[in-house]
Order: sequence, then structure tokens, then C-alpha cells
Amino acid sequence: MTASALADERLDALLTTVLAQVRGDDPRSNELLSALIRHLHAFVREARPTQEEWLTALDFLVRTGHTCNEHRNEFILLADMLGLTSAVDDVNFVATADATPSSVEGPFHSPAPARANGAWISTGPERARAQVMVVRGRVTDTDGHPLAGATVDVWQADDAGRYDSQDPAQELGNLRGLFTTGDGGVYWFRSVVPSSYPVPADGPAGELLRAMGRHPMRPAHIHYRVEAAGFRPFTTHVFDAGDPYLDSDAAFAVKPELVVDPVQDQDAAHAMKFDVPSPFADFVFDVRLVRQEVSA
Ligand SMILES: [Fe+2]
Repeated sequence: MTASALADERLDALLTTVLAQVRGDDPRSNELLSALIRHLHAFVREARPTQEEWLTALDFLVRTGHTCNEHRNEFILLADMLGLTSAVDDVNFVATADATPSSVEGPFHSPAPARANGAWISTGPERARAQVMVVRGRVTDTDGHPLAGATVDVWQADDAGRYDSQDPAQELGNLRGLFTTGDGGVYWFRSVVPSSYPVPADGPAGELLRAMGRHPMRPAHIHYRVEAAGFRPFTTHVFDAGDPYLDSDAAFAVKPELVVDPVQDQDAAHAMKFDVPSPFADFVFDVRLVRQEVSA
């Protein structure tokens, strides 16, 4: 028997022994831990790390923990960069052909000021320099019936890719808004076109990106949280079709249905109707919510 085959035989026996020790009181916890153990052992069997490589991996996790603080969760970033946050989102979304797909929330949500439909969410210095955008759409059920009274919570970065919490030049609440849909399920607001931005790459997650030869950029987007009575709470974000990073989002959150191609509207009459300078970007995004299942 070769040394490799002998090692595999020992690995089989070892895995069986370890799995037999998983016998807690909570069946779901046992299921999760058993799956985790099986996959980690499969990784060792496939990749056959050296002792030095294994200690490097453990040190990486220790440093990831040390990078976390009240304002930064490096483990979430790591999960984003490995596509795991999107994978968890995918397995939890109730997929129906007519529903708008969900997507990851990201780390920048905070309570938004309530604003009336049509309000500007851009109240900072970016409004004087960035391209103006009208964002509008309807919230409906999956059959297209409008949902009046739904809340639409939006947040976005500015034209330099910065959120209010990252930029001393912006007041908290800038580029955020909490809207309530009116008749016809309609919401709308005025803003500026956001920019793509890099995720923090100065910690272990950044090391990982560089080791893989990847960039840290996320394509420009607007985040949405939408809620309506009787429907599943919904989180997604919507991307600009013209962004150069659309095919290589560092967080793997892009889905085809979430890409919007804003119309560059040159019509001065339209600009007057929305009370914005001409030309402006007209960004239309409808949300179709899934009805909440009522348990018997
Ligand atoms: Fe974001």
C-alpha cells in the first residue's frame, strides 16, 4: 500500500471517529457541525496542507479576528469575498419566477431619515458636482398588483464611492431615505449617480484578494430594503449596467435581474417635471415581493 493510500485509509477512520463524537442535544446543531467537519476533512484530504501551511491558515483566522472591532467585521468581509454571503442569501431566498431576486445587505445600512416621495436624498457636497439621477419604480406582488403603504429604505455611496459613515464631508443620513409607496405602489426620489468603490483591503480579506490576483472593487449600486404587510421582508441592491466592474464584483452579488440601464434623459420638459437639471439619469427599478406564508 502506498503512503498516500495509507494516509487516506487513516483519514477515513479519523473522520468516522470524529463524526461519532457529534452528539449534542440540538439536532440542527449536530447537522451543521457534522457537515462542517466532513467538508473540512475533505479539504485536508484534497489539498494536503503542510504543517507550515496549516499554521499559516490558523494565524490568518487569528488576525482576521483581531481586525474586527465595533465598526468593522472582517469575517463578514471575508465571507463576502469568498462568495459565501451570496450563497447563504441564495439558499434562503424563496425563488419564484416572478419575484425580484434578493441580494446581500452589505455593512453600510443604518437607519434612514423618513422622506416624502420625490425628496432629494443627496443633501451633501456631492450634489453640486455629481450627475443627477431620478430613481423611481413600483412595489407590487408577484402578480403585478400594486402595494401602497410599502416602505422602501434606500442607501447608496456618493460619486466618489463613499458612504456617509466613511466621509466626514457628509452628514449622517446623506444618500439615505425611507420612503412609503403611494397609490399604484409608486416610490420615487432624486439623488446623484453613485460610483463603484473598493471594499476595505488593508486587512486579512485584502491579503486574500491579492493572493488570488483579484481587485477589491464593487460595481456602483443602490441598496434597497422593502417591507409590506403580509410579504416577506426583502433586501437587495441594484446595479448600474454601465459599470466596468459588473462582471467581477468583489462580493459576487450581481444578478441579471438587478442590473438597471439608466436612460440618459436629455428632454428639458422631463427635467422640469422632476425638478432636476437637464440632462439627468432616469433609473427605474420595480420590486415584486413574495407573499409571506401564513403558518396554520
Ligand atoms: Fe454598498
